[in-house]
Amino acid sequence: MSEKVPSIKFNNGYEYPILGLGTWNSKPGEVVAAVKAAIDAGYRHFDCAFVYENEEQVGEAISEKIKEGAVKRSDLFITSKLWCTAHKKELVVDALKKTLSNLKLTYLDLYLIHWPMGFKEGDNLFPVDKNGKILPSDSYFTETWKGMEECVKEGLARSIGISNFNIKQIEDVLSVAEIKPVNNQVECHPYLNQQKLIDFCKEKDISITAYSPLGSPDRPSATPNDPVLLEDPTVKDLAKKYEKTPAQILIRYQIQRGIPVIPKSVTKSRIESNFKVFDFTISDDDMAKLNSLDRNCRMVNFDMCDQHKDYPFTKN
Ligand SMILES: NC(=O)c1ccc[n+]([C@@H]2O[C@H](COP(=O)([O-])OP(=O)(O)OC[C@H]3O[C@@H](n4cnc5c(N)ncnc54)[C@H](OP(=O)(O)O)[C@@H]3O)[C@@H](O)[C@H]2O)c1
Repeated sequence: MSEKVPSIKFNNGYEYPILGLGTWNSKPGEVVAAVKAAIDAGYRHFDCAFVYENEEQVGEAISEKIKEGAVKRSDLFITSKLWCTAHKKELVVDALKKTLSNLKLTYLDLYLIHWPMGFKEGDNLFPVDKNGKILPSDSYFTETWKGMEECVKEGLARSIGISNFNIKQIEDVLSVAEIKPVNNQVECHPYLNQQKLIDFCKEKDISITAYSPLGSPDRPSATPNDPVLLEDPTVKDLAKKYEKTPAQILIRYQIQRGIPVIPKSVTKSRIESNFKVFDFTISDDDMAKLNSLDRNCRMVNFDMCDQHKDYPFTKN
């Protein structure tokens, strides 16, 4: 049996395992085996979202593992995210109920607002105009936050948080929050190390989760000219030095910063090796080398939303 993954503590006292499995771009036909392999390898934290359109299969894997006695629900930490077409306050609880039904769960450990931008309500998850740009909702995320608070009050989510929010947007949420966000899930890796946002969130007692920690090589928007983090010479040199893989270096980098991290894989051998990051330490000098790779290089830009009034990123 693998050792228990260390946790951090949220501002509401709940524990959050520092390493989890991502599930974006995990095809429904692959994700059942991936989640089962991850549970066998020792993962207890799974990062899901309604918009990944594979929650049902993640739920199938989890319920089979519970049925077979490998884990209990209480051993697991399950996150999912509210999609942008359900930002109106009255839509939030029902959206979570749909996610819970997909995942075959009665509660989530963490529910996040996936992005600050609200989209036109309806069944189309990506409603766009003739130029391919997102059609906005007339909601604002402070209203959405009130819906998120309802999810906690109804016992459907233990903790609530945000994702892809910038500093100004976090301040807006805090200005209306009766229940504080526990976490902001953002892209984070050596090419975009997010130190400023991390420092701000720390001051507000909001933890960060690092998404796309390996540079998201399978993201649909990747182009041949984009830098490939897993191929970075510094990362590769450190992998050689520590006799680890480049992925293990990138995952360990976040763990040593105290940042929970959710690498995605559907490959059994990678799922297993990505978990073997608790038996070595990157030296302070080598952590500084990784920090020096920071270049404001964002892999997940969500360009179709860049005209939206609540788009969180500044363009270079
Ligand atoms: N909140 C948000 O808006 C948001 C946005 C993006 C991501 N996320 C979350 O964060 C998770 C991780 O981010 P991500 O999926 O963008 O990318 P990532 O974890 O940085 O990279 C995943 C890719 O790396 C490959 N990979 C995994 N382990 C590897 C290894 N040891 N060696 C070489 N390649 C390896 C995977 O391939 P295989 O699967 O083929 O093995 C996959 O192509 C997502 O799955 C999702 O849960 C959230």
